Amino acid sequence: MSETCLTVILAAGEGTRMRSRLPKVLHPIGGRPLIRHVLAAVAETASAVAVVVAPDHAAVEAEVGKADSRAAVFVQAERRGTAHAVLAARAAITGGADVVVVFGDTPLITAGTLIRLRGALTDGAAVAVLGFRPADPTGYGRLVMQDGELTAIREEKDASQAERALTLCNAGAMALAGASALALLERIDDRNAKREYYLTDAVAIARARGLRVTAIETEEDEVRGINTKAQLAEAEAVLQRRLRQRWLDAGVTMTAPETVFLSPDTELAPDVTIEPHVVFGEGVVVEEGAVIRAFSHLEGARVGRNARVGPYARLRPGADLAEDVHVGNFVEVKATRIERGAKANHLTYLGDARVGEGANIGAGTITCNYDGLAKHHTDIGKDAFIGSNSALVAPVKVGDGAYVGSGSVITANVPADALALGRGQQVVKEGWAARLRNLRARAKKKPMPAAE
Ligand code: UD1
Ligand code: CA
Repeated sequence: MSETCLTVILAAGEGTRMRSRLPKVLHPIGGRPLIRHVLAAVAETASAVAVVVAPDHAAVEAEVGKADSRAAVFVQAERRGTAHAVLAARAAITGGADVVVVFGDTPLITAGTLIRLRGALTDGAAVAVLGFRPADPTGYGRLVMQDGELTAIREEKDASQAERALTLCNAGAMALAGASALALLERIDDRNAKREYYLTDAVAIARARGLRVTAIETEEDEVRGINTKAQLAEAEAVLQRRLRQRWLDAGVTMTAPETVFLSPDTELAPDVTIEPHVVFGEGVVVEEGAVIRAFSHLEGARVGRNARVGPYARLRPGADLAEDVHVGNFVEVKATRIERGAKANHLTYLGDARVGEGANIGAGTITCNYDGLAKHHTDIGKDAFIGSNSALVAPVKVGDGAYVGSGSVITANVPADALALGRGQQVVKEGWAARLRNLRARAKKKPMPAAE
């Protein structure tokens, strides 16, 4: 086994069976593109990373650059198969470094398995293949074994009836020993049903040259390849199961974990409670004892100790809830810091604001943060009380301890401890309704004009 290791990620496939304009490896699971999951697993294991993309996939290249600045990007000019794709990164396959090939459409693969696969080269094998036994092997290459040894990998389209009955399949990942990697890759031809250069042919070629080939096995859940939208949904389910299990083990309470959707970077403290049907986007931290009630959606938000969110709350990026804050039903919070113990319990929008400690935001309060051109800030002081159905037209400040009367439109700053009223004056007309009823009653008693 060579000291150094290059991992080549293949991401130039057409993905036509996804029936989408989006390149296959940019489809998300757990809110992140497939390729980013693979790059994360690879980052822990490889000394160098090469990603092979299609010429029309600038967006894939951009995503790779964003996820791992060390990764070198190579363009496969024409889609001529997986071996052809590996050779697109030929310039990186140098110095006798071992080569590990992984597919950009196998997002659940773990660093541990990649290390184990490369480790299989230690006892002198030239090629190590990752195998698995899928519940439904349709579409996968079959591992052909003879006397306990791997002799070839047969793609389904090229397989005989007997070979199709084999249950051990090719997961896609392969390790090639540095000393022979390039020689093997260059011998692969396109004489097969799809007229493609199959990476899988490296196995039979190595055998023919008297080199040793080996296979290791892993769980199906780790190597599901994604060729269709149905397989994308299955991979999402596996990822979500993994994430839920991690947080249940860490002491989080979930009454119906199968309905909670997490992001790989979600951070939940022990004794956090998550009610059913909660969705976490990227960048959410929930601190100890907080309760996220049913049907809430959180993204880019922090929820402080013992805070309560929902049911039906939406926390958008920059929502920062301190300890003991309550954010209730149909409340949306964006780029707003809500300080300790403050409450916004019903039907409210808080955007680009600060809500001071202990303040109470009445039902239906709206921060009018956008004037059609720019966003403006609203500052609500400590212990302020905003009456229901008020509009706070930013930029505006409500001082500490101030009151805003219900139904106000507040366009000027309110000093501390003041009362601000910004609404029409109430007019009362005594007896008016009774007079109306009398008039109507009299009109009804008049005889109908006779019909002609
Ligand atoms: C491949 C394997 C099959 C294995 C399965 C596991 C080959 C020939 N077949 O089949 O044995 O069971 O994966 O999921 O290797 N790609 C390129 N350029 C190309 C062709 C493919 O970059 O010219 C990339 C794709 O983006 C994809 C990966 O290589 O990430 C695999 O290609 P795909 O077409 O999905 O192969 P499968 O038919 O799934
Ligand atoms: Ca595939």
